Amino acid sequence: MTHPPVYLDHAATTPVRAEVLEAMLPFLGPAAFGNPSSAHRFGRTARAGIEEARRQVATALGAEPSQVIFTSGGTEADNLAVVGASLAAGAEGRPMHAAVCATDHKAVLAAAHAVARLGGSETVLPVDSHGILDLAALDAALAARPAIVSVMWVNNEVGTVQPVGEIGRRCRAAGTMFHTDAVQAFGQLPVTMEDTGATLLTISGHKIGAPKGIGALVVQSRAAVEAIIHGGGQQFGLRPGTENVPGSVALGKAAELAAAEQAAKATRLGKLRDELAARIRIAIPDIVWIAEGAPRAPHVLSLGIPGADAEALLMHLDLQGVAASGGSACTTGAAEPSHVLTAMGVPRELALCTIRFSMGRETTQADIDRAVAVLPTVVAKVRTLGGLLGRA
Ligand SMILES: Cc1ncc(COP(=O)(O)O)c(C=O)c1O
Repeated sequence: MTHPPVYLDHAATTPVRAEVLEAMLPFLGPAAFGNPSSAHRFGRTARAGIEEARRQVATALGAEPSQVIFTSGGTEADNLAVVGASLAAGAEGRPMHAAVCATDHKAVLAAAHAVARLGGSETVLPVDSHGILDLAALDAALAARPAIVSVMWVNNEVGTVQPVGEIGRRCRAAGTMFHTDAVQAFGQLPVTMEDTGATLLTISGHKIGAPKGIGALVVQSRAAVEAIIHGGGQQFGLRPGTENVPGSVALGKAAELAAAEQAAKATRLGKLRDELAARIRIAIPDIVWIAEGAPRAPHVLSLGIPGADAEALLMHLDLQGVAASGGSACTTGAAEPSHVLTAMGVPRELALCTIRFSMGRETTQADIDRAVAVLPTVVAKVRTLGGLLGRA
């Protein structure tokens, strides 16, 4: 019997939702294709689409429409936050210093490197074995008055939820800007600017049922950030360039739906995630659930499977029609353990044997049943192969 493919990689990306496609399609066609900066009716129609999307994103995140800057995705929003806030500090004669969390997305870590290359400096804040930020290290960094602190709300690889409310409180007390990458939090947890005390917050469309290539940065005070690309005056001068109208409209609709459906979805996915972990543990008793005791988001399950190389596991799972992803980035055949797992102190051998299942609104009980049915055989095969190759 052939089984339909099972997609358990929603933290990587999600399918575009039918409602979202329906909302954006008119802005690709002849009725509403105008340039939102044009004063004529075509332009005004496009402008109305953008402004409605801005309102929807703002409402979903407890922000003001004028605080929403559309970007080409989460990566650009992270860069605008970290580099833009550092440049603004530099322009005021303050140190261009970015303090970021060791388990943050590469978009944030690389943006902090860019700040250092521009003549500023960076501090990488450590985490504990669950991936939770070391608050004492944060306090020490705040004493140096960085231009910006950036800490991801929900980790994309292991699902750990950071204490963003506490981090935001400490940053506010120190007079430092606080950015949180909420790409994996939005739609999974209740997410509002107020909960975090964040001054800057990133979301990405393709994690919540909008297309790839659209995201947003919420900017509490526009004066505190400088543009990182230069051009016309669109989006308050903070993100010049003709707006991605269909993408923004899609993000607006997806954000509205994500906020409305978050609570019910979190309950359902949390149960599926726990069931998946429990049933795999019965079948493969020596699995290690990474960050098991941590506060965590409902959609991510990161499993270390001793003696089973992650790349081989993912390939064999794929052959069985189950799509998951790894905790390691494989560059030119030489697997390197993920920076997240390394920062959490996960031993290299286990990090190279760690895979991630991530669920979304399309995930069904049948998907979980199929993954549970397939994994033990795949693990046995990969362990045997590893043993034969002397790599177990
Ligand atoms: C936590 C996090 N931040 C940022 C990004 C980057 O977002 P985008 O793919 O929209 O550039 C991702 C996506 O992989 C992510 O998971």
